[in-house]
Formats: sequence, C-alpha cells, structure tokens
Amino acid sequence: MIPITSHVDRSSAAFRDNAAAYAELTATLRERMTWAIGGGPGRERSIERHLDRGKVLVRDRIAMVTDHDTPFLELSTLSGFGQYDDAAPGAGIVTGIGVVHGAPYMFIANDATVKGGSLLPVSIKKHVRAQEIADQNDLGVIYLVDSGGAFLPLQDEIFPDKDHFGGSFYRQARLSARGLPQLSVVLGGCTAGGAYVPALSDEVIMVEGIGRIFLGGPPIVKAALGEVIDPDELGGALLHTHVSGVSDYLADTEAEAYGRLREICETTNQRRLDERTGWIDSIEPEPPAHPAEDIYGIISADSRIPFDATEIIARIVDGSRFAAFKPEWGTSIICGFARIWGHLVGVVANNGIIFSDAALKATHFIELCEQRRIPLLFLQNTSGYMVGRDSEAAGIAKHGAKMVAAVANATVPRYTVLIGGSYGAGNYGMCGRGFNPRFLFAWPNSRIATMAADTAETVLVDIRLAGMKGSDTTEDEVGAMRAEVRSQYEEQSDPYYATSRLWDDGLIDPIHTRDTLGLCLALAARQDEPAPGSGLVYRM
Ligand code: COA
Repeated sequence: MIPITSHVDRSSAAFRDNAAAYAELTATLRERMTWAIGGGPGRERSIERHLDRGKVLVRDRIAMVTDHDTPFLELSTLSGFGQYDDAAPGAGIVTGIGVVHGAPYMFIANDATVKGGSLLPVSIKKHVRAQEIADQNDLGVIYLVDSGGAFLPLQDEIFPDKDHFGGSFYRQARLSARGLPQLSVVLGGCTAGGAYVPALSDEVIMVEGIGRIFLGGPPIVKAALGEVIDPDELGGALLHTHVSGVSDYLADTEAEAYGRLREICETTNQRRLDERTGWIDSIEPEPPAHPAEDIYGIISADSRIPFDATEIIARIVDGSRFAAFKPEWGTSIICGFARIWGHLVGVVANNGIIFSDAALKATHFIELCEQRRIPLLFLQNTSGYMVGRDSEAAGIAKHGAKMVAAVANATVPRYTVLIGGSYGAGNYGMCGRGFNPRFLFAWPNSRIATMAADTAETVLVDIRLAGMKGSDTTEDEVGAMRAEVRSQYEEQSDPYYATSRLWDDGLIDPIHTRDTLGLCLALAARQDEPAPGSGLVYRM
C-alpha cells in the first residue's frame, strides 16, 4: 500500500473558510449533545429529584460498571431531538458499547430524568436497534432499568407492531439463547411490560428501596382488586429476592449492585475486545500521516462545491496508505484497500455522481472483498446515479442494480459513514440503512434525502403544475410552492432530523471517525468468520 500524496493547501483561503464554517458545525453538535445529556424542559428539576432520592445519573451508572480508562461508544445521543416538543432529550434512554473485564457489552440504560424513563416511539426504536447491534456483533447486553414503561399517550406507536415492545422481548429471549448474556440491574420502576426486561434476563440484581418490579402497579391493583398496597410490598427488592425469586441478588446500594454485576461479567465467558480470531487480517496499527483536523478545511462550506474523498481517506486510514483498485477507471467512485487500527478494510468512497462505469467498478470491488473476506467501509457523498438520455441508454439502471445487489448480498461486515450527501439510489448502492450495515454514522455536514432541495424544488413544482393544467397560476404562487418544497426538503434532509429518527447510529465529529471505526472493527475481529456467500467475482 502506497501513502496517499495530499494536495491540501492549509494556507489557502478556501481551506480557512471551510474550517471556519466547520467549526460552527462542530460547535452546534457539541451544544446539542450537551443539551441531550442534561437539558430539556423541567430537566433540571428532574435531575435534582433523581439525585435527592440518592440515585445515580444514567451515564455515571454506566461509568461505574465499565472498566477504567476504556472507551464507551454512545449511540444515537441525539435521538428524539426536535421531536415531542423537545421534551425527550436522547429519547430518555442511553445505549452504547462499553467494556467490562475486557469484554464488550451493549448497554441499554433508561434515563429516569426524561419522562420518568418511559419509552416513546423513538426510545423503543433505539432499544431494539441496540439489541440488533448486539446480535450482529455478538455482544452481551446489560440493562440498567429505571423506567415508567410504555409512554402511555402514544401507546399505539410503541406497543403493537413488529419491533415495538414485543419485538424487544423477542430479541432479548433469542439473544440469550444464542449465548449472549442478558443481565439486568433494577434501579427503578419495571411496570407491566417493563417487568419482562428483568424477568427475561439471565441474571437480575435489584437495589433495595429503588428497584420495583410488578405486572400491575398499586393503582391497577386498587382498581382491579380493591387492594391498597405499598409499592415495595407489591414488587420491591426484598420481596423479589427473598420470596418470588424474580430477582437473583439484592443490593443495598447502586455501587454494591455494579460491583456484583462486574462479578457476574467475570463468569459470562465472553470474548474480550482485544481478542482476535484471525479471520480479519490485522497488524500493528499506525496513525494516519495527515492530521484528521484537516478534514474541517477539506469539506467545502458550500455543499455544491465537491471535495476529494481521497483526502478524507488519507486522514482516516493507517499511515494514510491506500491500494487503489482500478484507479484510472470509473473515477467517480474510489475503491481500494487500507487499514484502520491495523484491520484490513475495503473502502468504497464516492467522488461525485455515480456513473455506470463507477457502479461496475464498485460491484467488482465489493465482490473481491467478499471473496477475500475483507470488511467493507462505505464513505457516502453522492447525489446519486447519473440520469439523462445517454446514461439511461448505457443501462445505468441495470449497472446501479448490480452494485445494489452486491452490497445487499455481501456477508462480510459493512460499515457506512455519511461524509456528505446521501441522495437517491446512491444511498442504496452505498450501503444505506436499508442495507443493514453493522453501524452507520453521519457527519454534521451530511444530508440525506431522495434528492437535494434544489432539485426537489424544480421537480415537485413541475409535477404540481402539470397536474394543475389549465388553471391560472401566478408567478407568486409558483414562487410560494417552490419555497414550501425547498423548506420541507431542507428540514428533512438535515442530519439532526435524520439522527433524531435513528436513521443512523449517531452524528460524529469527523475527527473521531477513525477511532469509532477502529472500535467497530475490533468487535468484528473477535468474532468467528461470517458464513461466506458465493465468492463469485465477475469482471464487469
Ligand atoms: N407514560 C407516560 N408518561 C409517563 C410514564 C408513562 N408510562 N411514566 C412516567 N411518565 C411521566 C410522568 O407523567 C411525568 O411527566 P412530567 O414530567 O411531564 O410531569 C414524568 O414521567 C415523571 O414521572 P413521575 O411519576 O413524576 O416520576 P417518579 O420518579 O415519581 O415516578 C415512575 C416514576 C415510573 C415510577 C412513575 O411515573 C410511574 O409509575 N409511571 C407509570 C408506570 C406504569 O404504570 N407503566 C405502565 C406501562 S405499560
């Protein structure tokens, strides 16, 4: 692999302008992350009340369980952002991957300072997504339960469908059966359906005085049976560890519970994060030759001005070394081999619109990685596949479909980062959410939609006008229609709109991309090799 020669001029006006514009994007990201962690209406009061009850805040709980000086990869911190009247920062649940006694675990931890830890539609989506990641990456799951259960006013969006509450319990039972430990610490309410999170766990710890499990809480018992009963008598830690056996261990304090949990983790027989099964070619890591901070000056402040993905690759991969595949052909996609934190990966990165030749090159390369058992990394920045008479006549639809089919059928781990635009079918061919990448992260400058706002403004208004044939439409009315479509597309393609709805696993600062991917690859390197597909490589 040869080091990439960078052509970035740090002293240029464009670099400085871009970097200044990106500084605003990262400042906004930090500000909104801070808001998700501690902000929201009435949150201060909820946090105070939580602490007054002697309870530990959710992220501190996770820190008390995980090994010192190990990373915690928090997922979708900004889920719920801008939804539910902004009253559900982080959707009231924290998910992420942390290390306990050297082994990685998925954490699913309710944040009782947001709507009593009750689960809104996006919260249950986040819970289920965390279980899906655990399944794909062979991770045990630690549930830190402190929840009011289903957010009752929106019960129709949480309860009945696939991947709603039922789906989360289905996954929990199956993860356990796969040998992935399901461990619960009960730190608050587990009412009705919520009772099944601990009840379906392999081992359960309850903290006296705060942990409660019941299928029907005191109000339901009073309504149904006329019995008036104290919550602890009905479902407290003493009852469940001494009498019912719903819980296995009793802890007097949270600290004691986390100590006990760590002891349990010593016995779960999980593969450590630093273990290597050898199926991913891994060597000693080497930092990139070019600093990641350059990325801020490389990404154009004006999204209509393209930037060279090679320069981005040079700031993510080991030694900035890259073995480009077919570099002279289909140049609107860059393909090639590199290493990230020592792990060999195949990189597929957009450099503009996808033409037929680029789609064929990418297809060939994806098949190569599949045959050689090399994980794939997709760096998305495209307005989609080329349109127009020549392109259609050259069969762009069938060539794009080959790429889409190759991506869909690749069995090696696939990872996607939105480094710019993710538009139209480009999203599919480049392993968008629908193609089940193991992780999908996005940068704060990214955009995701069927088409860019500029294009949508013309297309949608033309369609509307064609439908209104014969009626008089004034220039002002056409202008208002354009403005309406533009504003809708701008709002919905915004990365915060996307991450709020869990179309990704989180917005990340570009300079954290390498470490984030390194952790994701380390998870895969400790797994057994996935069963291969056909291994066929067609020369396109
Ligand atoms: N649905 C909707 N909102 C809920 C909720 C639920 N299941 N559980 C809690 N909340 C809301 C409360 O309305 C309150 O909202 P507000 O801040 O806008 O006023 C907020 O969460 C905090 O609840 P509160 O009861 O004040 O907190 P608490 O710490 O004293 O008690 C619980 C927390 C979870 C023990 C208690 O709220 C509770 O028992 N909730 C209902 C549990 C239940 O029966 N669930 C059935 C699920 S099927």
